[in-house]
Amino acid sequence: MKILITGSNGLLGQKIVDYCLAKGISFIATSKGENRNTKCPVECYNKLDITKEEEVRNVLTFCMPTHVIHTAAMTNVDQCEEDQKLCELINVTATKYLVKACNLIKAHFQLLSTDFVFDGEKGNYKEEDAVNPLSAYAQSKVDAEKIVNEIAKSGFSIVRTIIVYGKGEQLSRSNIVLWAKSALEKGGPLNIVDDQFRAPTFAEDLAAGCMLIIEKGEQGVFHISGPETVSIFELVTRIGAHFGYSTENLNKISSATLNQAAKRPPKTGFDLSKAYLKLNYQPRTIEESLDLLFE
Ligand SMILES: NC(=O)c1ccc[n+]([C@@H]2O[C@H](COP(=O)([O-])OP(=O)(O)OC[C@H]3O[C@@H](n4cnc5c(N)ncnc54)[C@H](OP(=O)(O)O)[C@@H]3O)[C@@H](O)[C@H]2O)c1
Repeated sequence: MKILITGSNGLLGQKIVDYCLAKGISFIATSKGENRNTKCPVECYNKLDITKEEEVRNVLTFCMPTHVIHTAAMTNVDQCEEDQKLCELINVTATKYLVKACNLIKAHFQLLSTDFVFDGEKGNYKEEDAVNPLSAYAQSKVDAEKIVNEIAKSGFSIVRTIIVYGKGEQLSRSNIVLWAKSALEKGGPLNIVDDQFRAPTFAEDLAAGCMLIIEKGEQGVFHISGPETVSIFELVTRIGAHFGYSTENLNKISSATLNQAAKRPPKTGFDLSKAYLKLNYQPRTIEESLDLLFE
């Protein structure tokens, strides 16, 4: 087995590198630009801009992985709404380049997708529930999933996940848990949305879920998230309570007051039965993950 990771400078990419190093699994980490993860050995890194078709084909045929885990994406939902062409290039067209190259070398292709493929009216989504994207980002992931379903010839998996948190080196963006802990520590008033419900996902658990699919030879769509669906307000309150910070200055607000460019689904969260049954997936609770993150 040899894993090629796209977006290895990103949060999930770094955790998959950690998983492979810990388990002695052969891998090639790739990302746009220089390697920013000092834990990744130089000989295991290859620069790859996924929007360049020839580069994608050359790197994949040179490295000859058995599996590609495609974490790279334009992940800022509001930027995707504002630059829909770039979003389509990075999230859809580049996925097609990668799947085509996987077909050439007979590699399994794994796509990272999102809870945002759903409209958030029902919650607790199963893999086979109907998608109904509300934003350009969500639509790009639905389109990427469709490409994988239609043209991947050597096996594929699609991993949908939900707000991912954890620590990484020189990440290009922060995440809700790191932000909330540092904001609570400062103690000032905070406005937190109370009408969006999510199952926050510890990045280490997500990496394990992605790799378990591959190690167990599974195929198809998997929902991989944290085990608890909570409002963003509850998440921030629990982070405060866990670390003994005051939560008296937290104000509940509605999403509408934020005027964000992209529409978000109100209530997602996943039914994880398939992951529990087929992968023996064991995600940590919010408090368990906080202990590990800040130990
Ligand atoms: N994070 C979440 O809350 C969340 C929720 C649902 C689904 N997902 C999905 O899960 C996956 C991993 O998320 P993440 O949190 O690890 O994202 P992330 O930290 O934003 O990492 C994405 C990585 O993709 C890289 N990238 C962007 N354009 C590229 C290009 N043209 N060529 C090569 N690499 C490129 C970025 O490089 P730079 O660092 O150099 O910009 C970044 O390192 C994504 O597909 C995302 O859509 C994430």
